[in-house]
Amino acid sequence: MALKFSVLTLFPEMFDMLKTSIIGRAVEKGLIDVSCVNIRDFTKNKHRRVDDYPYGAGGGMVMQAQPIYDAYRSVAGDDRPLVIYMSPQGKVLNQKLARDLSREEHIILLCGHYEGVDERVLEEIVDMEVSIGDYVLTGGELPAMVLIDCVSRMREGVLDSKETFETESHYDGLLEYPQYTRPPEFMGRTVPEVLLGGNHKDIESWRREKKLERTRKKRPDLLKKALLTKADKEYLENFFDKIEKKP
Ligand code: ADE
Repeated sequence: MALKFSVLTLFPEMFDMLKTSIIGRAVEKGLIDVSCVNIRDFTKNKHRRVDDYPYGAGGGMVMQAQPIYDAYRSVAGDDRPLVIYMSPQGKVLNQKLARDLSREEHIILLCGHYEGVDERVLEEIVDMEVSIGDYVLTGGELPAMVLIDCVSRMREGVLDSKETFETESHYDGLLEYPQYTRPPEFMGRTVPEVLLGGNHKDIESWRREKKLERTRKKRPDLLKKALLTKADKEYLENFFDKIEKKP
């Protein structure tokens, strides 16, 4: 069954971008379904306005509850989909959350704009708030696209082989090892000898070592949560002892 995303947005045309590449192909194959609902189509205001001044004054405009609620009702049906509000106040998206979301059947993504959304409609319909990082964007559309891309590629059948995302950065809490392709030499730089040798056991341990080294160098914070074997820990200690304790 397809994983269905229903996006509640004021800018449905932005989501045309998802028609390209791997996600576009997954949509064509029927693995993913993305449909956008224009919140403005649900306004009862003759000027088609969807926002108003905030109670208690303050700058900016606030999106009204009614058009959002009616847009939500138009796609919710009886199956009680998971409703996510894209917001810088939410849980920060990571590979684990994306994996969990890829097992859902129907996800509604609410994209906010202006200074915010009337709190009452959030209380009424939202199950979870998700952020894509600790910075503020002008709206929830780009974050929703990031989430759709990241979640979709973890759905069974979307990538060519399961291995693709299982060896990627973050899957096991570590960064990915370096990759090389032809030619064997570029600007005087050669491909590591072990990769040319075809000994799979050696290649596997070289890759594991590179993952550990890179994570330690680029994102040492990740090591605290990564699942490391005794051998991994020993390797890290030896390797960095050698570099850091050099006179
Ligand atoms: N809307 C505005 N900024 C956002 C962010 N960082 N993540 C999710 N939604 C947002």
